Amino acid sequence: MIGDEKLEKQILEHLKLYRDLGVRWVRASEKPKQKAAARTQRRPDPVARPVSGPVPKTTEPAKAEVRPAQPAAQPDKFFDAIRVDLTDCKRCKLWSTRKNIVFGSGNPHADLMFVGEAPGADEDEQGLPFVGRAGQLLTKIIESVGLQRSDVFICNILKCRPPGNRNPESEEIAACEQFLFRQIEAVKPKIICALGTFGAQTLLRTTEPIGRLRGRMLEYRGVKLIATYHPAYLLRNPMEKRKVWEDMLVIKKHLGSVHP
Ligand code: URA
Repeated sequence: MIGDEKLEKQILEHLKLYRDLGVRWVRASEKPKQKAAARTQRRPDPVARPVSGPVPKTTEPAKAEVRPAQPAAQPDKFFDAIRVDLTDCKRCKLWSTRKNIVFGSGNPHADLMFVGEAPGADEDEQGLPFVGRAGQLLTKIIESVGLQRSDVFICNILKCRPPGNRNPESEEIAACEQFLFRQIEAVKPKIICALGTFGAQTLLRTTEPIGRLRGRMLEYRGVKLIATYHPAYLLRNPMEKRKVWEDMLVIKKHLGSVHP
């Protein structure tokens, strides 16, 4: 049972986020958690096998890249195969400085998939995506449209942390992007939300700046894609939160229209 004081604090934090996002009113009758629960029930429950957490280390060599064609609707199996291929990955130089490979986390059957840039220090430490300050903001953004982190799947372009949180290099992206593409194939989301320049540009094969990519319904291999500002950028530029809120509403509307 949640204490009154704790609940009050949580509500206050939520309202502050809404205010920052530029929301002027909230409907008292809305029951977002129930709606979110109903939506996740439309698709099979997440598999019992955990899909989050670091990729385990082993002394065995990485497996060959040749994979058979994958039948539909078995993301758990696909994830296992991707994890095996990622084990002890040394395809780029980031292996020498990483602590953990950050595979991704969330619902492997999610309708909505978030694609960020690369793990930071907290993510590298825990082996989980978006658990630092930017991650906490992402959680609030997800919750602001009535979803939970467990409803969506979250991962990054790079599975290892670039030292000092520098930008990903093109050779690193080239070495790692296949894993993201396979994750998208496995999850088969209804919509992808690319967070920031690297997520958007890698998936869209473009060099257009994020400011020009956001605000449009785009597509990655037949899957709808919305590009929006990265939560770390929002921490530095809180005035832009409103735009991300608008992008989230477009995503929410699309999810509603594919699940009337
Ligand atoms: N920034 C990202 O792009 N990904 C993370 O997992 C954390 C911060």
